[in-house]
Order: sequence, then C-alpha cells, then structure tokens
Amino acid sequence: MKLLIINGPNLNLLGVREPDIYGKEDYAALVRRVEACCAELGAECRVFQSNHEGAIVDEIQAAYGVFDGIVINPAAYTHTSVAILDALNAVALPAVEVHLSDVSVREDFRQISYARLACLKTVMGRGVEGYCEAIRFLKDYLETQKKDG
Ligand code: DQA
Repeated sequence: MKLLIINGPNLNLLGVREPDIYGKEDYAALVRRVEACCAELGAECRVFQSNHEGAIVDEIQAAYGVFDGIVINPAAYTHTSVAILDALNAVALPAVEVHLSDVSVREDFRQISYARLACLKTVMGRGVEGYCEAIRFLKDYLETQKKDG
C-alpha cells in the first residue's frame, strides 16, 4: 500500500505559526510522526508540502497509477481551490481530508471545504494524530475494497 500525504501552504511553518492553534511541534516532527504511522501499518508513503496551488495539483495528478490513496491537508486552499477538488476527482483515488485545528468552530470563511467533496472522510481538531487516524482509515478502506474485489 502506497499513500501520498499532501500538506498545503504555511504548514511548513508549524511550530512558529500560531502555536496556540496549530501546536508547538514543527513540520519536521509532523513528517516524522506521519512516516512512523505509515511504517507501523506497513504502508509506504511520500510526504509532500507546497505553498503553491499548481504544485499541489501536479502532485495529485502524478499520484494516478502510482499511489493507492491520498491524505490531504490543503490548508488555506481547502476553502478556495476548485482546482484541487477537480484534481482529486480526476485521479479518483480514495482520499481523506485532515485539519490540525477544528475548523468547524473557526471563522465562517473556513466552513467551506471544496476538497471535502472528493474525500471519503474528514478528520479535524486532532492535531498531528489526525493524520494517523486518516492513514488507518485508508488502510482499512483499501483492505476492505480488496476483499470485496
Ligand atoms: C488548516 C485549517 C485551515 O483553515 C488553515 O488555512 C490552515 C490549516 C488546519 O490544519 O487546521 O492553513 O488546514
């Protein structure tokens, strides 16, 4: 099982960026935790971050035929990007949306998620552990799909 983990803009500044909302751990710690979760479950993973919408679209497109599933935190592009939604729908890989913070209790403009429309599930407000929940969900989903063949 090969999973692609995508992180959007400003997540590279974790630890520095609004630590009361996003936590004190830096991006390198997030990557280590995600890689450890994948390793525990026997999954291969690539962890990608970009501040650029087009680069994220390119990465989703390149996942077609290569990865079995996608975990995506599109960050601010969650609330604006039809291009990322279209890319997720185009490759049609099982995908899970993750947010470190609980966006449901934040500003009105964060209540819209375009990416969610192409995702099987959303995990929010669980910090970095939310990525592990998403990875476990995808693993179970992919195994069930295989069985039902
Ligand atoms: C975020 C929530 C978004 O609203 C915000 O723009 C981010 C991070 C989160 O992980 O909580 O950059 O996706």
